[in-house]
Amino acid sequence: MAPPHRGLWAFTLLLLTTLTTLLPFTSAAPSPGCSKPATLRNGQQLTTTINGKSRQYTLRVPDNYNPSNNAPYRLIFLWHQLGGSAQKIIQGEDPNRGGVLPYYGLPPLDTNKSAIYVVPQGLNQGWGNQNGEDVSFFDNMLQTVTEGLCVDTNLVFSTGFSYGGAMSYSLACSRPSKIRAVAVISGSLLSGCSGGNEPVAYYAQHGTSDSVLNISGGRQLRDRFVRNNKCSANNGGEPQPGQGGRSTRVEYQGCAQDKPVVWVVHGGDHNPSQKDSGSNEPFAPRNTWEFFSRFK
Ligand SMILES: *[C@@H]1O[C@H](CO)[C@@H](O)[C@H](O)[C@H]1NC(C)=O
Ligand SMILES: *[C@@H]1O[C@H](CO)[C@@H](O)[C@H](O)[C@H]1NC(C)=O
Repeated sequence: MAPPHRGLWAFTLLLLTTLTTLLPFTSAAPSPGCSKPATLRNGQQLTTTINGKSRQYTLRVPDNYNPSNNAPYRLIFLWHQLGGSAQKIIQGEDPNRGGVLPYYGLPPLDTNKSAIYVVPQGLNQGWGNQNGEDVSFFDNMLQTVTEGLCVDTNLVFSTGFSYGGAMSYSLACSRPSKIRAVAVISGSLLSGCSGGNEPVAYYAQHGTSDSVLNISGGRQLRDRFVRNNKCSANNGGEPQPGQGGRSTRVEYQGCAQDKPVVWVVHGGDHNPSQKDSGSNEPFAPRNTWEFFSRFK
């Protein structure tokens, strides 16, 4: 005789299996730092040693930080451009002269104060990632920060302009199980792509008049994740900037669950703070925040 609840068990198992398959990220993954008071603080500059080299990074933690927050925090890595610095990301530079807003303009958009930011300093002011040393630096920072602060390890993001975009791309290639989504602003293949066969949610923007890292390089990076994320290749053809100085935004169709690809093309040069005509606000921050905040 069958045990009375066998049908129910089978149903529950089926339901669980289906849910786990359909929704790879169903709930928060609180880091070790969620079960204790913070051991790291806002504005702290940290130093570590990678391959015998001293490396520095700075934290931005919301002032109302609370480790028993009902939701563990998002963690966003912000990589500077060539010749930039962590300090220039923290303070920002004039967006009307090609600079980025403080912290890539993200904190004012995070009205829930849901994110902790990590701002690393590059060797030789860049991310050459020699023998993977900048990826190792990322691994080290991720471990330290998730131990010291309450982070949802399913909500780790990376963004940057130019070399910083290249570094974000490199992490999407080599750390697809740790990085939920990237935003690559005018990037190129400068920090390598070790691995590069797994899907990662991918936002990128690029100018058709980019005189430093041409747009064909940006398209090549994008196409890797169009492929990995199993999106349909854009059958409308390569999008052009919109009329009258506006950007064009394309959301690829048919991508795997939780692995969108968004591509924004504009008519400008190598500029992280490109604006649409008639707008006073660079669009990279809002587009990036819109993309990162899709993930829960
Ligand atoms: C704030 O959190 C709520 C609830 O999770 C969410 O719906 C909303 O989009 C968040 N706002 C922003 C600006 O991210
Ligand atoms: C774009 O830049 C790459 C790398 O510098 C170069 O190999 C390629 O020829 C350039 N393509 C165009 C269309 O300028």
